[in-house]
Order: sequence, then C-alpha cells, then structure tokens
Amino acid sequence: KRRVRIPHLQAMTDRGDRWSMLTAYDMYTAEIFDEAGIEVLLVGDSAGNNVYGYDTTLPVSVEEMVFLTRAVSRAATRALVLADLPFGSYQASPEQGYLTAARFMKEGGAHAVKLEGGVEMAPTIERLVRGGIPVCAHIGFTPQSEHTLGGYRVQGRGEEQAERTLADARAVEAAGAFAVVLEMVPAPVAARVSEELRIPTVGIGAGPSCDAQVLVWQDMAGLRGGKAPRFVKKYADLRGELSRAAGEFAREVQSGTFPAAEHSFDA
Ligand code: KIV
Ligand code: NA
Repeated sequence: KRRVRIPHLQAMTDRGDRWSMLTAYDMYTAEIFDEAGIEVLLVGDSAGNNVYGYDTTLPVSVEEMVFLTRAVSRAATRALVLADLPFGSYQASPEQGYLTAARFMKEGGAHAVKLEGGVEMAPTIERLVRGGIPVCAHIGFTPQSEHTLGGYRVQGRGEEQAERTLADARAVEAAGAFAVVLEMVPAPVAARVSEELRIPTVGIGAGPSCDAQVLVWQDMAGLRGGKAPRFVKKYADLRGELSRAAGEFAREVQSGTFPAAEHSFDA
C-alpha cells in the first residue's frame, strides 16, 4: 500500500481520474476510509458541529483539532491526512498561520493543512508553502465566515460573484495551493474554475465537474439526525442501525437476556 501523496493527486487530475476525500476525526473511521480507498482524510473543523456539539465551526480550538488529527494520522496508513486550521488561528498574519500550521504537522502528524479564503489569503498560503507546508485552499462558502456571508448560502451566483470566485481560485493556485475546495458554488461556475485551474478542485455542493469530491462522513453515512443539506447523499443509515443496537441492548439488559452464559466466566 503506497502512501497517497500530493503529486499522485495532481497526476490523477491530469489523467482525468476523479478522487475522493472524506472527513475523519478518529481512529476507526480513519482506518475504515483508508482501507476503502479514500485518497484524502480531512480532519475538518466541521468537528465543531459533528464531534464537539457546537453550533458552528467558530469555537473550535487548535488543541481540539490537533488531538483529532493525531488520532487520524496514527490510523491512516495510505490516505493523505489533511488538517483544517481553525478560525482565528491563521487570519491575523502569515506568521501566525505558519506557526499554527507547523503544530498540525509536528504534533498532529498531518501531511498538509487546509485554510479558508481566496485572494486575501494568498500571502499566507505563500508563507506556508515557502516553509514546507502544503496547503489546500477553501473558497466559495467558507463556514468560518458565516457571520460575514450572512448564513449558509450558495456563493458565486451572478456574473460579478462568479468572477470573484474565479479570482479567488486563480489567486490560491498562483500562491502555491496544491488543491482548492469549492463549497456551495453553482455547478457551472465550479466547472469554469475546474477547467481553468491546473490544480485539483474538490467540490462540496459544487456540481459534477470538480476533479474530486468531499463530504462530511456523518452526513454521508447517515449518522447525523435532522435534515442534511441538499448536496449530501446518504450512503448508509448508521443512525438507524446504532439506535436499533442500543435499544436492543437496553431491552436485553432489562429482560435479563444479556449477558448469557457464553458472555460469563466460570469460577
Ligand atoms: O470542515 C470540513 O469538513 C470541511 C469540508 C466540508 C470541506 O471543510
Ligand atoms: Na472546514
């Protein structure tokens, strides 16, 4: 099993082969997704919503992310491990960004980091890349800016906004990003970006023309309750399955069916 590396992702994209990314925040999911052939495991700051129970990604700390990254990088033997830089840990300056990103590489065992922003983040991306840290950019809808953007909404509708999205994409590529996530971007705009850029585009709610796709694993596997966003496809019903298992355990404990003789020790 050869480790997936950035040149492999670029080579796949050059050949027109699609690849996939899933979030992972712990050992078992990392192990399972790695074995299933997912090329990139993203330790996303969506852990704020999907692990820590916050309403947004904003409260997530560097420490909260480094611990999860360490668990994932210990378990992943083939996939590339990509760690999200949390809100407030890189926006102040390129130097702040470099020092934070270095922690994810040294303490978390990440192979690369992801940060949100386009044109305005170009100097930070350049600084990290110059210091030996591969960067995946993230443009379109950027959850860390949800209060600026006015909530979860598609970005890049209309010609002016589409041009802005294209400008962001060009800027992060020129700054040295090895890939760019496009979140909630109209499919035709994502197609234009994917056509124009050489580096892989990774879509989430960005239509079928991206070079790669990413989903939050609890969405993809149906662990999350409530209504999932439009761009999510549910490939399993883990919530139903776990709920059934827990309910059955509780009933068997109550009825005395569990534990049976085979689960017990002789004197
Ligand atoms: O944090 C995250 O999970 C992400 C993906 C949705 C791209 O940034
Ligand atoms: Na994120």
